[in-house]
Amino acid sequence: MGIGKLALFLLYAFLCQLVFSSSLPHLCPNDQALALLQFNNTFTINLDASSSGYYPKRVKWNRSTDCCSWDGVKCDETTGQVIELDLSSSQLLGSHISPKFGELSSLTHLDLSYSSFTGIIPAEISRLSKLHVLSIESDSYDLRFVPHNLELLLKNLTQLRELDFEGVNISSTIPLNFSSYLTNLHLRDTHLYGTLPEGVLHLSNLEALDLASNPQLTVRFPTTKWNSSASLMRLYLSGVNATGRIPESFGHLTSLRILVLFSCNLSGSIPKPLWNLTNIEKLDLDDNHLEGPISDFFRFGKISWLSLRNNNFNGQLEFLSFNKSWTQLEMLDFSSNSLTGPIPSNVSGLQNLQSLLLSSNHLNGTIPSWIFSLPLLGELDLSDNHFSGNIQEFKSKTLHRVSLKQNQLEGPIPKSLLNQRDLYILRLSHNNLSGQISSTICDLKTLEVLDLGSNNLEGAIPICLGEMSELWVLDVSNNSLSGTINTNFSIGNHLMVIKFDRNKLEGKVPQSLINCKSLEVLDLGNNELNDTFPKWLRALPNLKILRLRSNKFFGPIKDSSTYKFAQIRIIDLSSNGFSGDLPLRLFEYFEAMKIISESSGTREYVADMNYVYYTNSFIVTTKGLDLELPRVLTTNIIIDLSRNRFEGNIPSIIGDLVGLRTLNLSHNRLEGHIPASLHQLSVLESLDLSSNKISGEIPQQLASLTSLEVLNLSHNHLVGCIPRGKQFDTFENSSYLGNDGLCGLPLSKDCGGDEGVPQATTPYGLDQEEEEGDSSIISWQAVFMGYGCGLVIGLSIIYIMLSTQYPAWFSRMDVQLEHKILTRMKKHKKRH
Ligand SMILES: *[C@@H]1O[C@H](CO)[C@@H](O)[C@H](O)[C@H]1NC(C)=O
Ligand SMILES: *[C@@H]1O[C@H](CO)[C@@H](O)[C@H](O)[C@H]1NC(C)=O
Ligand SMILES: *[C@@H]1O[C@H](CO)[C@@H](O)[C@H](O)[C@H]1NC(C)=O
Ligand SMILES: *[C@@H]1O[C@H](CO)[C@@H](O)[C@H](O)[C@H]1NC(C)=O
Ligand SMILES: *[C@@H]1O[C@H](CO)[C@@H](O)[C@H](O)[C@H]1NC(C)=O
Ligand SMILES: *[C@@H]1O[C@H](CO)[C@@H](O)[C@H](O)[C@H]1NC(C)=O
Ligand SMILES: *[C@@H]1O[C@H](CO)[C@@H](O)[C@H](O)[C@H]1NC(C)=O
Ligand SMILES: *[C@@H]1O[C@H](CO)[C@@H](O)[C@H](O)[C@H]1NC(C)=O
Ligand SMILES: *[C@@H]1O[C@H](CO)[C@@H](O)[C@H](O)[C@H]1NC(C)=O
Ligand SMILES: *[C@@H]1O[C@H](CO)[C@@H](O)[C@H](O)[C@H]1NC(C)=O
Ligand SMILES: *[C@@H]1O[C@H](CO)[C@@H](O)[C@H](O)[C@H]1NC(C)=O
Ligand SMILES: *[C@@H]1O[C@H](CO)[C@@H](O)[C@H](O)[C@H]1NC(C)=O
Repeated sequence: MGIGKLALFLLYAFLCQLVFSSSLPHLCPNDQALALLQFNNTFTINLDASSSGYYPKRVKWNRSTDCCSWDGVKCDETTGQVIELDLSSSQLLGSHISPKFGELSSLTHLDLSYSSFTGIIPAEISRLSKLHVLSIESDSYDLRFVPHNLELLLKNLTQLRELDFEGVNISSTIPLNFSSYLTNLHLRDTHLYGTLPEGVLHLSNLEALDLASNPQLTVRFPTTKWNSSASLMRLYLSGVNATGRIPESFGHLTSLRILVLFSCNLSGSIPKPLWNLTNIEKLDLDDNHLEGPISDFFRFGKISWLSLRNNNFNGQLEFLSFNKSWTQLEMLDFSSNSLTGPIPSNVSGLQNLQSLLLSSNHLNGTIPSWIFSLPLLGELDLSDNHFSGNIQEFKSKTLHRVSLKQNQLEGPIPKSLLNQRDLYILRLSHNNLSGQISSTICDLKTLEVLDLGSNNLEGAIPICLGEMSELWVLDVSNNSLSGTINTNFSIGNHLMVIKFDRNKLEGKVPQSLINCKSLEVLDLGNNELNDTFPKWLRALPNLKILRLRSNKFFGPIKDSSTYKFAQIRIIDLSSNGFSGDLPLRLFEYFEAMKIISESSGTREYVADMNYVYYTNSFIVTTKGLDLELPRVLTTNIIIDLSRNRFEGNIPSIIGDLVGLRTLNLSHNRLEGHIPASLHQLSVLESLDLSSNKISGEIPQQLASLTSLEVLNLSHNHLVGCIPRGKQFDTFENSSYLGNDGLCGLPLSKDCGGDEGVPQATTPYGLDQEEEEGDSSIISWQAVFMGYGCGLVIGLSIIYIMLSTQYPAWFSRMDVQLEHKILTRMKKHKKRH
């Protein structure tokens, strides 16, 4: 390169730089740089957070450069004043918002969202009177306002357009001091209380209002025109107290696109003018007390999300067929209402529908073909209705949740369900489905819940089911499945619930169950399994419920020092051929039963998996009843070894299992005395030792069992006085029948004035009850002990109600139901 060219180049470079630098804005004024730097020096950055994707803007601030070039800082082109500061998501660990911000008086935008600020928002922020946008979202409640400061702030920020304090702990009423320019007000989850000043709803430029999740905030809607009606597009008021009706004035909000009013305590019907909101795209009125027909929804031609779950809407779904231009609709949720009639068959246009949720209504008829043809369907829940007919083949390949349980559907399981790549929940239980379970079901690699219980399925359980690596729940109970259980449960599986009960399965318990390390519930009851006690199940560290009842298990349960079963809550081995002494060691290891965990507010359930829409409903045998509970409390502790050939004494170690609610050792060959240690079972509700060869007296200490509701000691060789007082005054003759040596109330035989103990009459002899052996005639019948007739009928009704298809409200009743049954039983008992 020649000298001339080089000079030219240098000149060019110089000129370039000159041009460039003269186009630079004014340098950041010193005071503003200083304010920013002082602010910068107050914190340290949470490096953990920055390494996990957060972007700490301030790290790149550099004293020797113009502050207008700093990350997150923007200056006015002409004056050089800092006008925008965006420090969102900067992870300024544990820092306070510096009062120095007040010096940046030209700021129009200030965004301090998700930066882990704590403490009080300083009053100095009020000096930023030019702010258009102020955003201080917090994901904890560590940021607070001194209440009066919010008022001052709002009053001084007369230019404010957008205000966002989500998650900030405001803890005050809402002051009415908003700038009239306000378009977006976002105060979700801010501990607001009092009544929302109506003026907020009249802010004439308001476009979006979000006051959701403030349960102490009462909102009353304007009854006539809203001044915001021309502008308001998004209204989120879920979880506030809007007790009352939806007023007709909503019909004026013609710009409204999103209306979210779930959990607002609304009642009444939807007012007619609401149908004028033809621009609406999302309407969510879940969890209110709304009622009336829903026939006018077809007017919402642009709707994409329509959710009315858990209200009292009734009438038919006819409107679905009215508007063929419903092309935007993606989500339709009318679950848990009182809708009746069929789903209309002449529906078209819902080509984008992804979720169709109509569970827990009274819908009937067949499931129309258009549903099976929806090309994008992902979630279909029609459970708990009265649908009948066959399930057709699905056209969609995008299904991820299908629940059709509790209907009257019949025919085979559709093949198309078995080649969905993303299916994770399949629930078809409580129908009349027939045919076999195809082993292609194992191709559903993503499946987490497979619930096919209570149908008429037959054939064998596919061997490969145990190889489905994502499966948590495998329920094929109450079908007509037969053959041996050859299922090979592979190492590392995630199964928590296995229910094979009420089938015709034979052979042995598969050893590969040992690989189900997460297993909490194993129910093999009411089959024809012929095996010894699978004591190796002790290696399952989480097993909480084990039921083997009504099979052909045999032999002694050998004592061993290596039993673990530490988590077990319900063990039901009844109606089998087990023999030998009661397994002392086994009881010793029932650690979970040695705790009385009286519900301290929170109730825990066994295998409750709400996150996959599964709760472990279970038939619990207690107090002589089979109760199907929608969920099983972890405190529901039961030992049922009845109807076997156990012999020997009742080990007094059972008295250590103080969490026991139900103990049933009836119909065995037990002898010896009733151990006095049983008086320690202070929460025991049901004790059945009937039809054994137990002798001696009833320990007087048992009178301290104040929770005991049902006692059956009949058909033994007991002698002496029946204890008196407390619960013992409530038991009837039937509790003591067939013990010739017993005396005292309620028996007619008087004990006499003295404490003399009458002699045992019959020595061990013929015991008819016992000869019944282990024919399990009564397994699924209610057995009533210690009650009079009136109660038997009352309880039968509950029993029938529970054991037949359970009604809509059932799945939500759970706790209340349990409570009601108990209360009812107690009431009945008092009456007797
Ligand atoms: C700050 O900027 C100057 C000049 O551009 C540079 O020399 C210095 O290394 C920078 N300091 C840091 C900490 O980045
Ligand atoms: C700003 O703070 C960070 C860490 O808190 C520090 O590394 C950086 O040097 C500071 N910048 C200036 C210009 O002081
Ligand atoms: C309101 O803003 C003005 C500046 O516009 C300021 O002088 C005054 O102190 C502010 N008031 C409060 C309470 O911060
Ligand atoms: C919110 O702040 C108030 C005081 O202003 C305090 O009593 C309350 O405990 C705070 N709430 C939370 C969740 O931090
Ligand atoms: C805020 O508005 C309320 C009600 O309109 C008013 O009483 C109060 O004086 C206002 N506060 C300020 C600081 O202006
Ligand atoms: C509604 O706007 C009108 C006209 O701007 C005004 O006169 C009236 O007071 C406003 N109503 C309410 C409740 O703010
Ligand atoms: C909800 O609002 C109604 C009337 O608006 C009121 O009677 C009730 O006390 C409020 N409930 C709560 C929890 O604030
Ligand atoms: C709703 O629209 C109808 C005409 O379609 C009109 O007569 C009625 O006044 C409107 N209602 C409201 C509240 O705007
Ligand atoms: C809900 O509304 C009913 C009346 O419809 C009222 O009795 C009840 O207190 C309200 N609940 C709450 C939490 O405000
Ligand atoms: C269906 O929706 C479209 C689009 O909003 C609307 O124009 C039409 O009137 C609706 N049809 C019926 C029958 O209401
Ligand atoms: C559906 O239920 C209605 C009553 O709600 C009844 O009249 C009708 O016959 C039922 N239809 C079918 C197909 O079961
Ligand atoms: C159990 O199986 C054995 C053979 O393994 C057989 O001898 C026995 O009879 C079976 N028991 C019952 C009750 O079926």
